[in-house]
Amino acid sequence: MTDDQDQELDQVGWPRRVRSFVRRPGRLTPGQQRALDELLPKYGVAADVRDLRALFERDAPLVVEIGCGNGQAMAYMAANEPEFDFVGIEVHEPGVGRLLKAIDDRGLSNVRVAMRDAVEVLAEQVVPGSLEQVRIYFPDPWPKKRHHKRRLIQAPFLERLAEALRPGGLLHLATDWTPYAEWMLEALAEVDAFELLGDPGVPRPAWRPQTHFETRGQRRGHEIVDLLCRRR
Ligand SMILES: C[S@@+](CC[C@H](N)C(=O)[O-])C[C@H]1O[C@@H](n2cnc3c(N)ncnc32)[C@H](O)[C@@H]1O
Repeated sequence: MTDDQDQELDQVGWPRRVRSFVRRPGRLTPGQQRALDELLPKYGVAADVRDLRALFERDAPLVVEIGCGNGQAMAYMAANEPEFDFVGIEVHEPGVGRLLKAIDDRGLSNVRVAMRDAVEVLAEQVVPGSLEQVRIYFPDPWPKKRHHKRRLIQAPFLERLAEALRPGGLLHLATDWTPYAEWMLEALAEVDAFELLGDPGVPRPAWRPQTHFETRGQRRGHEIVDLLCRRR
């Protein structure tokens, strides 16, 4: 990243808090644009929803995936775990377009999509204790030291996730960036509400498919770390 871009990041972040993402003008294919126009009204989460559980007609445990990217994992999990309802949160429009199309093509009735900053969704649209699980796969590692403040996984955000989860609920993190895995473990250690399950780095649970960014990391020789935590 050039210094110009870095400055731009700071401007984007000011005067609001530092965000974990940068909105880049993404190229939407005509299919993705159509999906956003036609399917977001059907499967999207409106900003005035105050309890994500109210989006579904049944009363099933709710799993939230934050930063679901192109939605491949979300669509796979929703099809494979029909006992759960799912909300995918993602700000990248082309990714949301792809996920919406997958939901519609596969006729998945247990998925909704919030195209919004997850920090805002957690603050305004989630009732404390209402989530069964939160899954965050390969969040942007922001490897440069001056960008560490942009990392999504930080103790205050973990506190908010703990508040959102029911006691006994699960937080599942995965990363291909070893320094970020260490950072995650340090942040988790600061939050009493979470208990790490197993050794740091458990085998990939069966419910998580290989993701797009995981494949990219593996091609670069990165080690994959899955962390599972229980809300006390
Ligand atoms: C490195 S990608 C990983 C995508 C996918 N989980 C995967 O493994 O292929 C991280 C994603 O998180 C999204 N993201 C980052 N911060 C976010 C936030 N605060 N709210 C919603 N999405 C966010 C980014 O837009 C990006 O698509």
